[in-house]
Amino acid sequence: MLMKILMCPPDHYGIEYEINPWMKLENKSDRERALAQWNKLYQTIHACGAEISLIPPVNGCPDMTFTANAGLLYQNKIILSHFKYPQREVEAAHFEKWFKQAGFQVLNPVSEHEHSPFFEGAGDALTDGEFVYVGFGFRSDLSFYTQTSFFDQEKLVMCELVDPYFYHIDTCFCPLDKNLAIWYPNAFSAESQTLMQSKTHLIAVNEEEAKRFACNAVVIDKHVITPTGCPNLTNDLKALGYTVFACEMDEYLKAGGACKCLTLRLD
Ligand code: ARG
Repeated sequence: MLMKILMCPPDHYGIEYEINPWMKLENKSDRERALAQWNKLYQTIHACGAEISLIPPVNGCPDMTFTANAGLLYQNKIILSHFKYPQREVEAAHFEKWFKQAGFQVLNPVSEHEHSPFFEGAGDALTDGEFVYVGFGFRSDLSFYTQTSFFDQEKLVMCELVDPYFYHIDTCFCPLDKNLAIWYPNAFSAESQTLMQSKTHLIAVNEEEAKRFACNAVVIDKHVITPTGCPNLTNDLKALGYTVFACEMDEYLKAGGACKCLTLRLD
C-alpha cells in the first residue's frame, strides 16, 4: 500500500517572526529558491512511491508549509495540534477544516480540554511501529501526554528536549524501522538518552550534520530523504542498505525546518 503524505505548497512561506533560535527576521527567505527546494522534495517523495495530498496554503500563515505540525494521525484519528505560539495557532482552524473534509475524525484538544496543554503534532510524536516517541520541553507539554486521554500510555516514550535549536523531536530523532533510529543524543536530557537507548538501536549524527537537520529525514521503506550536507549519515545509511536522496533545504533551515517538517504522514 502506498504511504500517504500531506504537504502544503510554500506560496506564503517566509520568516515573519522569531519563535525558535533559527529564525532571524533579517535572514529572509528567497521565494524562488524556497519554491524550487519544496518542488524538488515533492518530486523526490513522489518518486519514492508515496501518495501526496496538498492542503491549500493560506496567506498570513508563513509556517503552514510545515505540515508536520498540523496534528498527528493516531489510532485512525487526527489529534489536532494546540500550537504554543499564537503566530502558528491560527493554522489550526485551516488544518482542522482540511482534515474533516478529507474524511478524518478530528480530536481537537482545545475544544475538549478547557486549559489544554500544548502539543505540536507529528513534529513532537514519531512512531517506529511499536513505540511512540514524544518530545517535550519546548513546544509540547509533558502533561499533554500524561494528563489528557488522547494516548495509550503503555507505548509512549517521553523524551525531554534540552537544546533550543532542537525544539521538536523530529529535529533530532528519526525512526527508520522497528528497533532502529537516527538521533542527535545531545538534544536530549541524560535521563531521556538512557530511556531511548533502552527502546531502540540508535545511529548518532555529529553536531555539524545535526545542525543541517540530518535527523529531519523522510523515510519511505528503504528510501531516506535527508537534507544535503550530511555525508557521514549518508554513509551510515548506505552501509545499512538504505538508498539516500539529498535535498537542498537551506531556505527552510532559516525557519528551523527541513524535509520531514514539510510532511505529515496520513496513514
Ligand atoms: N518555524 C516553524 C516553527 O518554529 C518551523 C517548524 C518546523 N517543524 C517541525 N516539525 N520541526 O514552528
